Amino acid sequence: MNNLKRLGSDDVLLQKYHPDEVDLVNGLGSLPSKDLQWKLYERFTSLGYLFTSVISPHAILSGYVELGQGVQIMAGVIVQAGARIGDNTLLNTGCIVEHDCCIGPHNHLAPGASLSGGVTTGICVHIGTGANVIQNLNIGDHAVIGAGTTIARDVPPHQTLIPARNRIIS
Ligand SMILES: CC(C)(COP(=O)(O)OP(=O)(O)OC[C@H]1O[C@@H](n2cnc3c(N)ncnc32)[C@H](O)[C@@H]1OP(=O)(O)O)[C@@H](O)C(=O)NCCC(=O)NCCS
Repeated sequence: MNNLKRLGSDDVLLQKYHPDEVDLVNGLGSLPSKDLQWKLYERFTSLGYLFTSVISPHAILSGYVELGQGVQIMAGVIVQAGARIGDNTLLNTGCIVEHDCCIGPHNHLAPGASLSGGVTTGICVHIGTGANVIQNLNIGDHAVIGAGTTIARDVPPHQTLIPARNRIIS
């Protein structure tokens, strides 16, 4: 990273480079309830700039996935056939997106999160480190799935969930 040239602040970028001259990469990480990564993307796309996608050569993507604009896919990620990934979504290290999932824009799937087939997420959803989601469920807009949580039913928008205590069901 040390040999990279620093161009300046966001405002310098706006003054110096027309949208036709540059492609942007959103290098911000994201944490639950922090919307800077989303706002930065919205600010620049509303001015006509494009974000390019960054995909690790160590990620495995089926040939049958649909990627939105400016997605970031880190090492060890697996995305299976029929999955769709929304604009500006970050698939962090080692997460799994199974077949036919539909991941909304501005999501963050944290390291090791695992989505079974056919899961749908809304906008700005955070799936925490090591969380699991059972197949065909819907996770509402702005929901936060705490690290290590297993989700076994739909999650309404704006809810935050953490792991349940063990309970006997039979
Ligand atoms: C769910 C989460 C957002 C809650 O954060 P918060 O609102 O700040 O909650 P707090 O840390 O105040 O915790 C509230 C209580 O829930 C418990 N808790 C929070 N998250 C938990 C989790 N994932 N698993 C188990 N318990 C958890 C805390 O221990 C605390 O319990 P207490 O009241 O008995 O002390 C957060 O803990 C989390 O899991 N974030 C995801 C982290 C992540 O994915 N990082 C990726 C970085 S790349």
